[in-house]
Amino acid sequence: MHSFRYVQNRMLCESVDLEALAQKHGTPLYVYSKETITDHFKRLDGAMDSLDHLVCYAVKANSNLAILHTIAEMGGGFDIVSGGELFRVIKAGGKAGNCTFAGVGKTRAEIEYALKEGIYSFNAESEAELRLINEVAGAMGKKAPVALRVNPNVDAKTHKYISTGKSENKFGIDFDRMLEAYAAAAKECPNLEIRGVQMHIGSQLTSIDPFIEAAKKAVPLVAELKKRHDIKFFSIGGGIGIVYHESLDSGDVNWWGDKPAEERPLTVQSYANALVPILEPLKLRILLEPGRFMVGNAGALLTKVLFLKQGNAKKFVIVDAGMNDLIRPALYEGWHQIAPLQKSTNTTLEKVDVVGPICESGDFFAQDRELQPVDAGDTLAVLSAGAYGFGMASNYNSRPLAAEILVDGKEAHLIRERQTLEDLIRGEHVPRDDKEGK
Ligand code: LLP
Repeated sequence: MHSFRYVQNRMLCESVDLEALAQKHGTPLYVYSKETITDHFKRLDGAMDSLDHLVCYAVKANSNLAILHTIAEMGGGFDIVSGGELFRVIKAGGKAGNCTFAGVGKTRAEIEYALKEGIYSFNAESEAELRLINEVAGAMGKKAPVALRVNPNVDAKTHKYISTGKSENKFGIDFDRMLEAYAAAAKECPNLEIRGVQMHIGSQLTSIDPFIEAAKKAVPLVAELKKRHDIKFFSIGGGIGIVYHESLDSGDVNWWGDKPAEERPLTVQSYANALVPILEPLKLRILLEPGRFMVGNAGALLTKVLFLKQGNAKKFVIVDAGMNDLIRPALYEGWHQIAPLQKSTNTTLEKVDVVGPICESGDFFAQDRELQPVDAGDTLAVLSAGAYGFGMASNYNSRPLAAEILVDGKEAHLIRERQTLEDLIRGEHVPRDDKEGK
C-alpha cells in the first residue's frame, strides 16, 4: 500500500499535507505513514497464518522508537544486529523474548547483554562465535538459545552489495558443513541450547525463484537437524523486494500499478503461496525477518530545491538533502521516484540531475531524470525512502541529521527532533595546552 498521493495536485501522506509539514519542521525531513507499516505487517502476518510463525522486523531498516513501538503493538518480534538495536527494541516496548540476534561479529559485551535480557535466539554465523556464546553463557550460569545461519550458496539476483547467500559472502556457515557444526556444538558446548536454523539470502529480491530455490535446498537439512537436535524454529530471513518505480498511490486499487503480471515484483501472497507448502511439512515455528517490505514504501524524504544550474552537459536541480541523509543512490545505484509536492498542470518534462550539497560526485538522488520543471523554493519528495534511509544517515560534511515525522491519519507526530549544531560536537574534546589541567 502507498499512503503518499496527490489530492488536488498537493501531495498528502495519509491525510496530512506535506508542504505544510515541510514549512513547519523544515527540510530535509523524513515522513513515514503508520497506515502503510501496519498494512504491510498485517498482510505478511496474515499470509503466513496457516503456519506457526513470528514476523521479526529487521530493525536495521529503520530503528526509530516510534516505528519499533508500532510493530511491537501488533505483536511483532525483532531481528536485531547489535546491542544498540536490542536497547532500542526494549525502550520501544518490544520483548527481548521475541528478538533474534543476527550478524557475523557479535562482541562479548553484546552477548552478555542479550543473555541478560533473555532473547529468543542468537543466530550465530561461525563456530568461533558459538564457542564465545557458550563461554559467556557458562560464566553467567545460563544456557544460551542458538541457531546457526546456513549459507545455501544461492544467487539472490540482487545488487552485489546486498546479496548474502553465496559462498563468497561472509555470511553463515557453508551448507555442507552444517551437520558437522551442529554436532560439534552439541558435543562441545554444554551451555548452548540448540534452538533453530536461520537463512537470509539477500535483500530487495524481486523474483520469487531464489526464495524457492533456497527453501527447497534448506528444508531437507532443517528436517535432519530437527531429527538430530530437536530444533524448534526455522527462520527464512527477509529480502522481500518492494516497488521503487511506482511509489505514489495512483488511486488504482492494484497495489503494484498497471504492469503485466510477469513484470510485477513479488507480492506477499505469491511469496506465501510459494513458500508455505515447502515449509509446512517441517512442522516447525517459521520466523520471517522483513525489513524493507515493512517500512520502505512507508517513507519519503522531503527536500527543498535550493538552486537550479544549467551546465554545458546537464541541468542540475540542487536540493538541501544529501547523500548523508539518503545514501542508497550513491551506494547501490538505488533508484527512488522523485515527485514535487505541488503537481503542475503543465505536462512538459525536462531532463535533470537531482543533486545534493555534498562535495562528492556520488551525491545525487537522480541522474538524467524526466521531471516536471521545478523552481528554487519548491519541495520535492524522494519516495520509498523509509527503509535504509534515515538508518544509514550520517553527519558527513557536518550536516545535522534530519527530523522524522510519523503520520497517523490526520495527525503528524515529531518522532525525532532535527539535530542542532551543538548536537554535532557533543562529546568531542580539544586537548588544551593548559598547565592547570595537567
Ligand atoms: N535478516 C538479515 C539477517 C539481514 O541481514 C537483513 C538485511 C534482513 C533480515 C532484512 O532484509 P530486507 O527484508 O530489508 O531485505 N542497506 C541496503 C540493504 C541491506 C540489507 C542488510 N540485511 C539497501 O539500502 O538496499
